[in-house]
Amino acid sequence: MRRHLDGIVEIENRSFPDPWSRGAFEDYLDAPDGELLVLEEAGQTAGFALYHVSFEDAELYNIAVDGAFRRRGFGRALLEAVLARARRRGAERMYLEVRKSNAPAVALYRAAGFAVCGVRRNYYALPTEDALLMDIILISN
Ligand SMILES: CC(C)(COP(=O)(O)OP(=O)(O)OC[C@H]1O[C@@H](n2cnc3c(N)ncnc32)[C@H](O)[C@@H]1OP(=O)(O)O)[C@@H](O)C(=O)NCCC(=O)NCCS
Repeated sequence: MRRHLDGIVEIENRSFPDPWSRGAFEDYLDAPDGELLVLEEAGQTAGFALYHVSFEDAELYNIAVDGAFRRRGFGRALLEAVLARARRRGAERMYLEVRKSNAPAVALYRAAGFAVCGVRRNYYALPTEDALLMDIILISN
């Protein structure tokens, strides 16, 4: 996974006004319950997703597709892979936070079955903005 770090950090920096540092990604790679999925296209790092499972709860920390590769279904494929893997690892619910104004991401999450379950006021910096809290139930009774 570490061989993808340069590409991931570049995508991160191009995708977010308040990007994670390289060190933050390294910390998550070292964490026992986290997993990083990388999507490669034509030998290039095209996107990634990072999530974490803690007992029955899973959290999507980060997902991004490089600008040149967007609207081709890669974001959906990454998210579906995350959901399937979290389910296999025993998670019953996955949640995430997303900037309220991030229409592409909110649409992606809704299309995958996530619903808004709360709001965190002024959660983000640069610019200050509310986060929508979204979740999805992963188990079927
Ligand atoms: C959000 C993101 C990962 C989507 O990746 P993507 O590969 O372009 O998404 P997909 O092509 O798989 O699209 C899947 C669905 O998401 C929604 N969607 C994706 N981009 C959209 C856009 N620009 N506007 C509206 N809906 C969009 C649509 O419902 C789409 O389904 P459709 O193509 O059948 O209409 C991508 O825009 C991105 O990297 N954004 C910057 C990083 C980011 O904001 N990440 C989320 C952090 S919480």
